[in-house]
Amino acid sequence: MVTLGPVGYTVDDKAQESEHPMAHGRITGWATHLPERRLTNHDLAEMVDTSDEWIRERSGIGARHVDGRVSEMSVIASRDALAMAKVDPTDVDLLLLATCTSDQQFPASSSVVQHELGMSCGAIDINAACSGFVYGLVTAMQFAEGGVETILLVGSDALSGITDWTDRSTCVLFGDGAGAVVIQRSADTPTLLGWDLMSDGSAAGVLWCEHGGKIFMNGKEVFRRAVLALEAAATNALAQAGVDIDDVALVVPHQANIRIIDAALKRLGIPLEKAAMVLERTGNTSAASIPLALVDALDHGRVMPNDLVLLVGFGAGMSSAAAVVRWDPPTS
Ligand code: COA
Repeated sequence: MVTLGPVGYTVDDKAQESEHPMAHGRITGWATHLPERRLTNHDLAEMVDTSDEWIRERSGIGARHVDGRVSEMSVIASRDALAMAKVDPTDVDLLLLATCTSDQQFPASSSVVQHELGMSCGAIDINAACSGFVYGLVTAMQFAEGGVETILLVGSDALSGITDWTDRSTCVLFGDGAGAVVIQRSADTPTLLGWDLMSDGSAAGVLWCEHGGKIFMNGKEVFRRAVLALEAAATNALAQAGVDIDDVALVVPHQANIRIIDAALKRLGIPLEKAAMVLERTGNTSAASIPLALVDALDHGRVMPNDLVLLVGFGAGMSSAAAVVRWDPPTS
């Protein structure tokens, strides 16, 4: 093991030799949803002592959507993703919903979404905060490898409900949204070539929210750890996939802060132009951020068949996760 820095995110020398199964799950449908109410930086400058210039320079964010509900946003994104995949909701075998802002303590928001969509399959919430979608993707691919035919994976968060709108050091960063993908078991070549899931619970206190409370964040410490975590997770997943960083056509980083993304990509040797970006118009939407950026890149034709896509996230926990996916698009 090689320690990257004092915070302990590590590159695993053995990653290349390890035997994670090569999963066969093809993404056949995708969609996103943002709630209607949009808050620009100028709107925020009327609520707290801040400015459009400060927010853009320190984070790269220009606007965010607020007042979303996880189940509602998930249902809308899921319906569109299922329609694209031409999958009837009753044919879904498993629903995975990555969220850290479930609408209620219990039941899981996935149960509400399942009912709204008219499905009867198993439904699970996954809480790995902003790394949740990648945790969910790796989990879904293992289910596909194990024989499950059709999986609906959603990343959805409503951070506006746990944001202290009087605290300028946090409220400028967060927003709401959802992204959904349909994953269907494929008999063809593997699509998930490498992955890495990490958690450093010793740092849980740097980004925290009590039940019924608001987000507490040590911004500088989160920043420092995020850069190292992104680098380590991506390096491990690439090593396991047995591919070089130059082989990657598109990177989909967690959309938290342009400076974090820029610093991590520099350490990895990837030009910023290779990154999918929606941060400017969404802010940090936690588990929704990676699917929002991925779908935006897909919709803009930035991914070709057989391209390698690197998804990489980090978040409260501190959790981090990366996946190297060979893009195997639906055939019709
Ligand atoms: N508008 C104007 N000024 C602000 C401000 C705002 N919204 N928020 C903080 N400031 C002020 C601070 O009070 C400080 O003033 P001072 O020098 O008089 O004390 C100054 O700006 C610099 O603050 P600082 O905290 O040093 O800024 P920064 O460059 O570290 O940027 C963050 C702050 C939060 C943008 C940055 O630390 C960050 O992005 N951290 C990671 C957060 C994150 O990604 N969280 C989610 C992870 S999933």
